[in-house]
Order: sequence, then structure tokens, then C-alpha cells
Amino acid sequence: MITTTGLTKVYRSRGREVTALDGVDLHVREGEVYGVVGQSGAGKSTLIRCVNLLERPSSGTVTVAGQDLTALAGRGTRAGAELRKARSRIGMVFQHFNLLSSRTVQSNIELPLEILGVSGKERERKALELLDLVGLADKAKAYPGQLSGGQKQRVGIARALAGDPKVLLSDESTSALDPETTRSILQLLRDLNRQLGLTVLLITHEMEVVKTICDSAALMKGGRVVESGTVSELLATPGSELAAELFPVGGEPSGPDRTVVDVTFHGDAATQPVISQLSRTYNIDISILGAAMDTVCGKQVGRMRIELPGRFEENVVPIGFLREQGLQVDVADVRNAHDTAPADALLKDGAK
Ligand SMILES: Nc1ncnc2c1ncn2[C@@H]1O[C@H](COP(=O)(O)OP(=O)(O)OP(=O)(O)O)[C@@H](O)[C@H]1O
Ligand SMILES: [Mg+2]
Repeated sequence: MITTTGLTKVYRSRGREVTALDGVDLHVREGEVYGVVGQSGAGKSTLIRCVNLLERPSSGTVTVAGQDLTALAGRGTRAGAELRKARSRIGMVFQHFNLLSSRTVQSNIELPLEILGVSGKERERKALELLDLVGLADKAKAYPGQLSGGQKQRVGIARALAGDPKVLLSDESTSALDPETTRSILQLLRDLNRQLGLTVLLITHEMEVVKTICDSAALMKGGRVVESGTVSELLATPGSELAAELFPVGGEPSGPDRTVVDVTFHGDAATQPVISQLSRTYNIDISILGAAMDTVCGKQVGRMRIELPGRFEENVVPIGFLREQGLQVDVADVRNAHDTAPADALLKDGAK
């Protein structure tokens, strides 16, 4: 539904160049909720602004619903009629809502329809329908100043849906909201995704958001996508940083000559009593050092850090047993983990 190929964006200001996007290939399937996470400055907002061509990429292509938007953009700085039309099919939700304070809620939602030249009667019908959809049917005549943050964001979402978009882009749309309101807005986005078959590309710095509603996710660092896939694919990827952040497990070994193993459960394996089977089959005592279990997209998934007596060489068979049960098993080198992290960072900085 959304594909970017080799997307690059270089900002030039006062003789300096900043590479905000460095060859991003992203593929968002129709009907999925796709989350992009990454630290501040990773290029997330630049990416989303390039997807609807609010920002013009330096190179690469953006295709939305089969249409190559980069080809529509032409050469001038102003968007051509075709690009404006294509853009009206892409809804955008902002962190700070961007509502006009002098207009009523209804008239804020009508604004994009006014720009598209839709008649007054039809605009009103559409706005009231959308207000009902986002649960604010009684707020049509209110002004943004009279609404809570969550209600303002609902208006922002209704406005984004005015042009019957197939795709909704959201840049940190819940970052300004408290946790409970965040949950209700995420639920609304999930409902809209299901009811309207809307494809949602959202930017967030909260892993909780990914856990709650995303089917797929990508991790950005320094303008690049360094990991991407469905949440279960990521969980099944050895050493996945996203999986580790979604399900952080800690815990140090209790002494020397212990093997520490991170086990990821997902799908059917999550409900099997594998740890007790392992203990019984090999007659070994297993300590649980840390664990994080949760429900992602209706499925139980989680990670657990366990400790087996003896060195790794002595535990090859029990570890093989875990793998045979369909579990993702990473042998954690707890001591070396601290040493390799700065080395990784050095390598990456050197590559810039
Ligand atoms: N208009 C601009 N001119 C120059 N540099 C810019 C511009 N916009 C963004 N950048 C730079 O591009 C890089 C990526 O910025 P971007 O806003 O995409 O990050 P982000 O991942 O959205 O961060 P945050 O989580 O803080 O919102 C940063 O180094 C930023 O300083
Ligand atoms: Mg941003």
C-alpha cells in the first residue's frame, strides 16, 4: 500500500548538509497498522512527511496505493493538481492536533472538503457522520478551546478522514496525551483500521504503542531502517533490537559456570509448559532471571531470561530441546554484552 524505495532526504542549511533519510526502503501492506520507532533525530518525521510529499525527497520513490507520488510532484516547488488530489486520499494526524481555534469542531472537519470544493450540504453531512464515527456527535458546535486533548485528537482524526483516505499517517499523535487517553485514541485508530480497512502508518517513540496496535514495525537509526517486519517476525529474529525493546528482560547470572538463555515465546509455544518439561527431561534446575509476557494482536507473546547450570558447552542439548519446541532461543553473553555495545556504537558513528 505504501512503498518507499531508496528514499533519501538531505537538508541543506547555511552550507551544512544533514542527511535525514539515507536510503529508506519501507513496505506497508494494505490494511495493516505499521509503526516506525526510533530515537529523536532518527528521521521518523522526515520519512512520514516524504510519504505524502509534504517534504520533497532528495532521491528515491514513494508509491501510495499504486500511484508514484514522486512522479506526480513535478519539478516546481508548488504541488500540482494531481499531487493535491492524491494527497487528499492520504489523511494526516498531528501531535499537536493543528485545529483552527476560531472555527467550530464541525467547521474544522469541513475544512479539507472546502478546499476540495465539496458543496455546503454535503460537507455538513460528511462532518456529522465523521463526528459520530469518532464518538463526538454532541460536539459539532463546540470550539477546540472547549475540548480536552483526547477530544481534540478525535477531531484531528475525523478531519484526516474527511477525504475518505485509504491511508492514515500519524506523527506522534498520542505523545501529548495521558496514558488513558492514549489508550482510547489507539483503540479508535485500531477500530478505524478494521472498520474502514484503513492502512495506518504511525510514528511513535513509545514501544507500548507498537505493542498495543501495530501489526508490523520498523526501527530507524540515523536515517536508516535497521530492522523491520511483522511483530512475530521480529520476535523470531535472533538478536532483534526491537523485540528486546518490546519485551525487555534483564537479570545477571547468579555465579560463574552458568548459561543464560533468552527464550522468546510466541504462537502456540507460548501456552506449552516447556520450562517444566525441560527441567524434567534433563533433570536440571532452572532459574528464571527475568520475564516479560504480554498479549500482542490477541496472541500471547513474551520473553524470559533463564539460567541453566553449567557452561554453554554442557547445555547444547537442553538448548536444542527448547529450539525444537518452536521457541526462539538466544544465548545471552551477559558479560560481553557490556563490552560490545560501545564497539557497535563506534562502528556506526564511523559509518556516518
Ligand atoms: N527542515 C530541516 N532543516 C534541516 N534539518 C532538518 C530539518 N528537519 C529535520 N532536520 C534534521 O533531520 C534529522 C531528522 O529529523 P526528524 O525530524 O525526521 O527526526 P525524528 O525522528 O522525527 O525526531 P523526533 O523524535 O525528535 O521527532 C535531524 O537531524 C534534524 O535535525
Ligand atoms: Mg519527529
